[in-house]
Amino acid sequence: MKCAKLDCGVRSMPSPRIAVLASGNGSNFEALAAAHAAGDLGGSIVALLSDNPQAYALERARRFGIEALTPPAGRFRTKLEDEAPWLAALEEREVDVVLLAGFMRRLHAPFLARFAQRLLNIHPSLLPSFPGLDAIGQAHRHGVRVTGCTVHLVEDALDAGPIIAQRAIEVGEGEALERLTHRMHEAEHALYPDAVKRFLTQPWTVDGRRLLFADAGANEVSHG
Ligand code: GRF
Repeated sequence: MKCAKLDCGVRSMPSPRIAVLASGNGSNFEALAAAHAAGDLGGSIVALLSDNPQAYALERARRFGIEALTPPAGRFRTKLEDEAPWLAALEEREVDVVLLAGFMRRLHAPFLARFAQRLLNIHPSLLPSFPGLDAIGQAHRHGVRVTGCTVHLVEDALDAGPIIAQRAIEVGEGEALERLTHRMHEAEHALYPDAVKRFLTQPWTVDGRRLLFADAGANEVSHG
């Protein structure tokens, strides 16, 4: 399916209004917020929403002067009990684009439909390898020689959706999981802001599974 009008939709916004959803530490949120503060994200982060009132991401948001919200998440661990207050909070703030950054709950049809091709996620593996929880550990235990991180559009399947950007990381001989995890986060913090900026400022289309940028070098894999 070609969706040419959608790339126009993002690019025609003078400065897309962005919300980030995070459940925990928020280091990826911080990388995005720092890029925004430097005028280098291609849009403005207007809110950080968390399902976890203890999330350190909330504190990071306050430090950046970004509104930090905790809409009710409900009693289920892996999904929001009611997405309506979340969607209402995003509507009230006229959010155009939503970025998931360590958000630990699945989103469902109404949310996905409202932000179709406006909802991005970062995952710490080279998808489609190692979707789901503990992706860094999965790859480490598997003994892969190369892993990496992926920024992708979110669809109604776990860690699926057209790939926007990936960064490869070579795993050192006998490298400890802790060190690989640290290097993965460094790679993520570079990749996510870059990928968001490109997504928001360059023309693109979706053709089947593939998100295609119109500019040169669109499908290169960078090495961290
Ligand atoms: C990151 O590794 C991200 O890829 C995954 O969850 C982790 C979140 O880390 N989805 P942080 O909260 O951004 O520090």
